[in-house]
Amino acid sequence: MNRDAQTGGAEVVLIHDGRPFAARLSARLGERFRIGIYTVDAPPPPDRHKGAATVFSLADAESGGAAVRATLRAEDAVFVLADARPHQRQMARALGAGNVFAEAEPAHLINGAVIQAVNQAVESAWQNLSAEEQRALQSSVKSFGSLMTAGRNGEPLPMAEIHAACEDIRVALGVSDVDRWMNALSGHHDGTYRHSMYVCGALAFFAHEIGIKGSDLMDLTTGGFLHDVGKSRIPLAILDKPGKLDEAEWETMKGHPGFSREIMLREHGLEERIVRMAVHHHEKLDGTGYPDALSSAQIDDPTRLTAIADVYAALTEERAYKPAMPKEKAFGIMSSFKGHLDMDLLSRFREFMLDSSRETAAAPAKLSA
Ligand SMILES: [Fe+2]
Ligand SMILES: [Fe+2]
Repeated sequence: MNRDAQTGGAEVVLIHDGRPFAARLSARLGERFRIGIYTVDAPPPPDRHKGAATVFSLADAESGGAAVRATLRAEDAVFVLADARPHQRQMARALGAGNVFAEAEPAHLINGAVIQAVNQAVESAWQNLSAEEQRALQSSVKSFGSLMTAGRNGEPLPMAEIHAACEDIRVALGVSDVDRWMNALSGHHDGTYRHSMYVCGALAFFAHEIGIKGSDLMDLTTGGFLHDVGKSRIPLAILDKPGKLDEAEWETMKGHPGFSREIMLREHGLEERIVRMAVHHHEKLDGTGYPDALSSAQIDDPTRLTAIADVYAALTEERAYKPAMPKEKAFGIMSSFKGHLDMDLLSRFREFMLDSSRETAAAPAKLSA
């Protein structure tokens, strides 16, 4: 799927009626999203912003009436009103608005609603994919949400739901190719979800390609899904920071494998190699990794592979402070990580990721709908 072709590159379309607040809002949203700016007098035609979230910034709801009526799914749009008296909110709701805010409301609430609207737009574009991909993406987003909630609250992990999602992912990555999988996820703004599904999809795809089957294949897929579960205990302000982490934040972030250990050791019956993938994917072969500074002999193959998929995902993901890196360039950088990654496994992984097309994949024509 090519999101840029659908949206003209914008993740958020901001339609405003010329008030100064619109400039402040667009500057703030622009730190996080690719943004297209229009006025209520000249809104973009709906097919130009299919696949993007819509935000209305209005002095009063009535001024946006015509533009709102011309918008697809106004119920998913975010409305930010200068005048938030009840009759204004009612007017916005009469136009079909679902998410209505006053501009004086806290920025994180408005940002949160916009992130949700962007994710909804990304998820609705999944309907253009194959049935297997759709099923896997939909079950992954739902079960990953349950996983992180359980991890955060110290509750038992929803393992039946996670196993079902991983089974769907295993099936999807058996017929799809990994680039299509990553493209479908690329615009998602739940960074931990997107990253975890990149790692999970890469592991499932690679394992399929080299002929791993049965419980080994399922464990690699499940281990990829769960590998950063400890991030459920890291504050969102750090996970979602639209910039590089400072030293103290980085130290906090480095606590996530330890949290994964705590969370997973409570789950009796979880395969030990799945736990090791989560706890030790930041270990390095030369013993300088964390949390346990393991030596190479102590790091098994599934964990070595998780480390490779994890670095590959981190490099090829778009972040607020960096664009997505082309995969050839990512592998160029990774080939210099000799004390960190297993070079033999990396060269096999590289070979399959660079030649990732599948003859059996659903015809690309299906994607352009
Ligand atoms: Fe991690
Ligand atoms: Fe990771």
